[in-house]
Amino acid sequence: MQEFFKAEKIAENVYWVGAVDWNVRNFHGYETGRGSTYNAFLVIDEKITLIDTVKAPFVDEMLARIRSVVEPEKIDYIISNHAEPDHSGALPATIAAVKPEKVFVSALGAKALGAYYGDLGWTTVKTGDSISLGKGTVSFVETKMLHWPDSMVSYLDSAKILFSQDAFGMHLAGSKLWADEYPKYILEYEAGKYFANIINHLAQKIIDLLDALPGLKLDIQMIAPDHGPLWRRPEDLAWILEFYRKCALQAPVPHALVAYATMWHSTERLANAIADGIRSTGVEVKVADLAVNDRSSVMTEVAKSGLIVFGAPTMNNQMFPAMADVLTYVKGLRPRNKIGMAFGSFGWSGEGARQIAAELTAMGAEQPFEAFQVKYMPTTDDLKAAFEKGAELGRALLSRCEK
Ligand code: FEO
Repeated sequence: MQEFFKAEKIAENVYWVGAVDWNVRNFHGYETGRGSTYNAFLVIDEKITLIDTVKAPFVDEMLARIRSVVEPEKIDYIISNHAEPDHSGALPATIAAVKPEKVFVSALGAKALGAYYGDLGWTTVKTGDSISLGKGTVSFVETKMLHWPDSMVSYLDSAKILFSQDAFGMHLAGSKLWADEYPKYILEYEAGKYFANIINHLAQKIIDLLDALPGLKLDIQMIAPDHGPLWRRPEDLAWILEFYRKCALQAPVPHALVAYATMWHSTERLANAIADGIRSTGVEVKVADLAVNDRSSVMTEVAKSGLIVFGAPTMNNQMFPAMADVLTYVKGLRPRNKIGMAFGSFGWSGEGARQIAAELTAMGAEQPFEAFQVKYMPTTDDLKAAFEKGAELGRALLSRCEK
């Protein structure tokens, strides 16, 4: 009897057979400080079915977990809900090992998986289709562009589980499988970080999906995402659905971010003065030096802030490059409902803060003030003015929050 890499039962005849990636710290540029998991699920029925696979290096771990329940060759069906390689990387090796009767994917999944791995014999399904496994039936709902064109979710009626691929997941490695076994502050931070960095730009689609969910008439008693812990208690299911709505709406809240890059500490001094001004109004503020805060952590704070203030010096007629990196990333994730301000120091040309202001405009951020700039090093009067700008921004945010 195999004693390691065992499957974990999550419902009658349903097992978690995924992998834990304890030490991943950079997930295509997303800083994963708590590691991640790649969740895959095995359904034992007349048609034995594997739902999703894992990242390629973890295929042996997944197959070992499957083997603790059933020989992989006995698997009849594979369902691939999402083509991104963290879930499909192990698919070619799994298909080779299992030789399944069918591999179910969306039509756009067949295109994406075909581009990655060639034609491995995909069977396409669409919203409204279902397949019988014997006692249970799996129904499919395409969730195009949530967050890839191919994305879909599947629902197993016999266990009342929604297999939601990336949705409702988070990068969180751990020994525990269930969300109710982790402190809420960790779930809130990691689910929020995941939302901010993976699907923030798709906020309206999230709202549309949440609105459509009751109409699908699925009796969902468990949500099993492809990353992080699974949701099983009714109160936790309600919490994550409501949390997603809140993240998607991004209503102004009294929280601010001051993010800056600095060369000789001038912009840093301005950042701290502005932040202190914001703080003086009662608004909670975070200050992030881009030298030690990666873009995904900054985006996490952007998503939860009603006020975003970005500062950088001018270098070679451009904003300092670290700021350009972060702003390109943040803009692509389309933050909503923000007040903003640009600031920075310069020596002779001064394009940096003006370029930041243009990026804030491109994000749709309301900017009550012109870019705040100082030459070389801020004077005491400059720092007082920066403090006052921060205080005015804080008050402007509070007035929005009260509406
Ligand atoms: Fe976890 Fe979009 O892949």
